[in-house]
Amino acid sequence: MANDFVEKGGTHKGFAPLKVLFCPRCTLAQLSVAVDPQVLYRDYLYVTSPSRTMQEHFAKLRKLIGEEQSATSVLEIGSNDGALLRFMEKNGASRILGIDPARNLSNLASKEHIPTINAVWDRDAAEDAAAHFETGVDIILARHVFCHVDNWKDFLHNLAVPSKKDTLVCIEVPYVQDLLEGCEFDTIYHEHTSYLSIQSFRAALNGSPWRLHRVERLEIHGGALLLMLRRTDYEGKAQESVRKALESESITLERWREFAVKAHRKIGELSAFVRNLVTSGQEVVGYGASAKSTVWINACSFTRSQLRFITDTTLLKQYRFSPGSDIPIVDEGALTRELPKYAVCFAWNFFPEIYEKEKIFREKGGKWILPHPEIKVV
Ligand code: TYD
Repeated sequence: MANDFVEKGGTHKGFAPLKVLFCPRCTLAQLSVAVDPQVLYRDYLYVTSPSRTMQEHFAKLRKLIGEEQSATSVLEIGSNDGALLRFMEKNGASRILGIDPARNLSNLASKEHIPTINAVWDRDAAEDAAAHFETGVDIILARHVFCHVDNWKDFLHNLAVPSKKDTLVCIEVPYVQDLLEGCEFDTIYHEHTSYLSIQSFRAALNGSPWRLHRVERLEIHGGALLLMLRRTDYEGKAQESVRKALESESITLERWREFAVKAHRKIGELSAFVRNLVTSGQEVVGYGASAKSTVWINACSFTRSQLRFITDTTLLKQYRFSPGSDIPIVDEGALTRELPKYAVCFAWNFFPEIYEKEKIFREKGGKWILPHPEIKVV
């Protein structure tokens, strides 16, 4: 499991096959297995990044949402440590509630006075949310949650429980078109059970209380979709963006086949590049213990013989070990303390910000290896 960073002597959550299946009819791609969410999320180490990039993303989301609806009351599903709800509250939301299955993160959010229910998004949680908002909630947010969910039918029906006629649902998911175009194979891991196209999402809405109202493409995390939904009994018309986005979408089996070939090539390239550097006596480390780092490291069969450590800003991940390779994760200061010659940036989705921040590394002759979109030394 990509986020299964364990402490010294800790036990791993286990292993599961990682295989993508494709439906040529509705263009949905899904994993062949769904790991029990209790195993994946009960204690969860992914914390929403406090980075500048993420704050800018939140501001963008708020602007887009504001064009549709004033956000007085906001419910967030998969609220993590409450970062987005805090942002919404600071920017005018007077009533907020988060739902998150991770015990550790719900506690963190509650301590910071973000009302949070520790639960998966099921019927009980939906009823609790309905009771919290009494007359129905204005906005429901679900960032990078829907692609983690196995039972979409229940998920969508439960969204109706705390809703009113003009509730706006905003679902953010990684966009499969960007995954294919950028060959972002490192975003394929067990937490992402599906790789959504707009066409497949529309098919999933059939028979649900929701319809697509507006679609926006976002840059975050290598390319994402903001899918805005309205209830089927809402009177306003769907926006042009839905038709346009559907028209510009092209997801085929052929594209997945090309993707597989390219992914193999990229894995081979990074693997050889790092091994050559190490053989010639250069020190290489990893930067960002992202889930993506786990995918890359296992695909390249790196161990600490290739990458001495991985730095990460997330306190919960530090002094743990990367799953599958047992490479140690250390604090971010290690980069400038140890000054390795090369660092592979596994948080490539934040690279412009990281490049600026880690000026000392650069000035002392350190070089970045970027694995995405193509392997490149900066
Ligand atoms: P992210 O790309 O958000 O997620 P995923 O796990 O889905 O691949 O992870 C980025 C990781 O990089 C996260 O663990 C935090 C870390 N990070 C740093 O160490 N330094 C930074 O400056 C930033 C922005 C992130």
